[in-house]
Amino acid sequence: MNTMNPGISAEADARHKSDAVIPVAEEKPEDTVIEEGKTVGKAFADNPKYKLRHVDVSYGDDRAIKNISLDIGRNEVISFIGPSGCGKSTFLRCLNRMNDSIESCRITGQLLLDDEDIYASKKDVVELRARVGMVFQKPNPFPKSIYDNVAYGPKIHGLANRKAELDDIVENSLRKAGLWNEVKDRLDANATGMSGGQQQRLCIARAIAVSPEVILMDEPCSALDPIATARIEELISEMSKSYTIVIVTHSMQQAARVSHRTAYFHLGHLVEVNETNKVFTSPQHDLTESYITGRFG
Ligand SMILES: Nc1ncnc2c1ncn2[C@@H]1O[C@H](COP(=O)(O)OP(=O)(O)OP(=O)(O)O)[C@@H](O)[C@H]1O
Ligand SMILES: [Mg+2]
Repeated sequence: MNTMNPGISAEADARHKSDAVIPVAEEKPEDTVIEEGKTVGKAFADNPKYKLRHVDVSYGDDRAIKNISLDIGRNEVISFIGPSGCGKSTFLRCLNRMNDSIESCRITGQLLLDDEDIYASKKDVVELRARVGMVFQKPNPFPKSIYDNVAYGPKIHGLANRKAELDDIVENSLRKAGLWNEVKDRLDANATGMSGGQQQRLCIARAIAVSPEVILMDEPCSALDPIATARIEELISEMSKSYTIVIVTHSMQQAARVSHRTAYFHLGHLVEVNETNKVFTSPQHDLTESYITGRFG
């Protein structure tokens, strides 16, 4: 995995992470014509976990995702980047049907997970969400003990028959999330008393506890300081041995550090996707280049 990437200026990266007003670019991105359904780079994978074809998502009459086709490889870490409102979270939420709860949201196209249609009418959504876990921007532990946060999913899904089995799942999940040594002596303490970084790792442990195959992360580090962020990034690299990971990030440095491929979204289109290094050092599309060089955000 590459580390600091010369293609991204620290200034551009900082600008994308902050809410600062972005100076107007000399050439306006909206002047660039995007051919619908056309993505440059490498959108397909040899061993796909997800096969997503012609995915369209609308909220009422507004199209938020426009004819996107993409594979997500098994054990791949893929980053979704792009300006605010371009559809990253919307597309991510399609992957475990989190958009189902939004009344106005309509999804068409084909979304296959291990060749199974995740939008099939007979699909068990609870089982799908156990296979495809999610970690949100703001750590959201339950106001329960550290132990109970991690044990919650396995209990609901009947993954442990005895207390000793549940204890093992809790310990293993906390170990995988890099949190065990910090909390093993206070498993009964309320999770809300932990630091933000610890809470986010607890949320990762909670996701891992039900043995998912995929973990979706929507800006998982945006509420964390640089040290807590580094811990999560290390964890993502470690976890990619066992899981497929999709991460939305506003930090291009982070995308460069953690992901195998990076996908650049713009106004609901998937403009470019390629090996991360290629996206940041030799982007093929003008819009990608403008974004990574900080000409618009
Ligand atoms: N629940 C919703 N109801 C209606 N429109 C929505 C809803 N969620 C998102 N949208 C719209 O869909 C488009 C894509 O939004 P989305 O949140 O997916 O973008 P994003 O790339 O994740 O942005 P950000 O970087 O700010 O998180 C936007 O125009 C947004 O206003
Ligand atoms: Mg978002």
